[in-house]
Amino acid sequence: MNKRLKILNVVGARPNFMKIAPIIKEIRRYQNKIESVLVHTGQHFDREMSKLFFEDLHLPKPDFYLGVGSASHAAQTAKIMERFEDVLVKTSPDLVLVVGDVNSTIACALCSVKLNIPVAHVEAGLRSFDRTMPEEINRVLTDSISEYLFTTEKAANKNLLKEGISKDNIYFTGNVMIDTLIGHKKIADRSSTLKRLKLKKRDYAVLTLHRSSNVDKKHSFVNILEALYEIQREIAIVWPIHPRAKKMLRQFELDDYILRMPNLRVVSAMGYLEFLKLMADSRFVLTDSGGIQEETTVLKVPCLTLRRNTERPVTVKEGSNIVVGQDRQRIVKEALKIISGKVKRGETPKLWDGKAAERIIRILIQRLRKKT
Ligand code: UD1
Repeated sequence: MNKRLKILNVVGARPNFMKIAPIIKEIRRYQNKIESVLVHTGQHFDREMSKLFFEDLHLPKPDFYLGVGSASHAAQTAKIMERFEDVLVKTSPDLVLVVGDVNSTIACALCSVKLNIPVAHVEAGLRSFDRTMPEEINRVLTDSISEYLFTTEKAANKNLLKEGISKDNIYFTGNVMIDTLIGHKKIADRSSTLKRLKLKKRDYAVLTLHRSSNVDKKHSFVNILEALYEIQREIAIVWPIHPRAKKMLRQFELDDYILRMPNLRVVSAMGYLEFLKLMADSRFVLTDSGGIQEETTVLKVPCLTLRRNTERPVTVKEGSNIVVGQDRQRIVKEALKIISGKVKRGETPKLWDGKAAERIIRILIQRLRKKT
């Protein structure tokens, strides 16, 4: 009888949790064939940024928690690598599976290949073509050392082929984050978020903001706050605030801007189910997140992306996303268009059907079996 395959799954930051959840669930269906080990690097550590997601998504307690916390990019990456190497030596997995584009993704992928352990990258091939973004560097590097590259959209396959990656290593399997959305939409609908915040369906907009390019530079942050000032005169805006944005607001002494906006509601960062409900029932979303561009596309909620580019072009071509950049006038203009009823709803992209994890695990079992 074949021995069980050991797959070591890595999570670190908030956007990783909803991507790993369906993969772990799928692995459980193959318990006789695969053993799963879960490692949490601890890049995100707050209750709102981590624990709530484990509860909402019924993620198992990590087998290893590395507790790295925050630091500069180099220090954080280095700490993860040092601690993750010990885990690899202790567990000797057949494969390390990483998701997304955060520092934990590249740190763990790099550690693994150095020990000749193959890496699977879920959400491979996305490119903003903006190398000032830390996530872009993480994406390019992780893809270049991964053996199994699972993509969410066709543009990603093209990017990888252009970078010289063999087509035999690229698999268009769909979007695991949408597996999670589809699997949790009904439970999220029962959440009391709107009642708690005294909001009415479609009567408010949602804002999320955390990119370094938006919140770490005072003039960019102020520009966005000025746009928000105009928008909140027409519609309430709910802003579940990210710790980075909170810290920078304080550091740049921008609290006065918030006080001047009675219709901007700054609330704590939310768990998965609460936020899904908030997003699904909103009139539109303003964001600089990657994942939210995809989630709003499936929810058919208009999305204005406060960035100069997107690594997820299918959300613009087929979905409900418009990339509005950081220009105050453009942001306000597009928001007012939506408020006046001119909305882009779009279509759900191919293979965003709730079955991506199923495809990924099936492929991994076939491929890894051939090797052992
Ligand atoms: C990280 C990811 C980003 C992802 C985002 C989602 C990288 C390079 N960036 O950015 O791609 O979209 O997560 O949230 O990996 N902090 C807390 N509590 C926490 C986590 C962070 O207070 O639980 C604070 C830290 O002290 C730090 C700031 O928030 O000052 C930023 O955290 P960091 O992990 O550096 O990156 P994010 O901006 O969250």
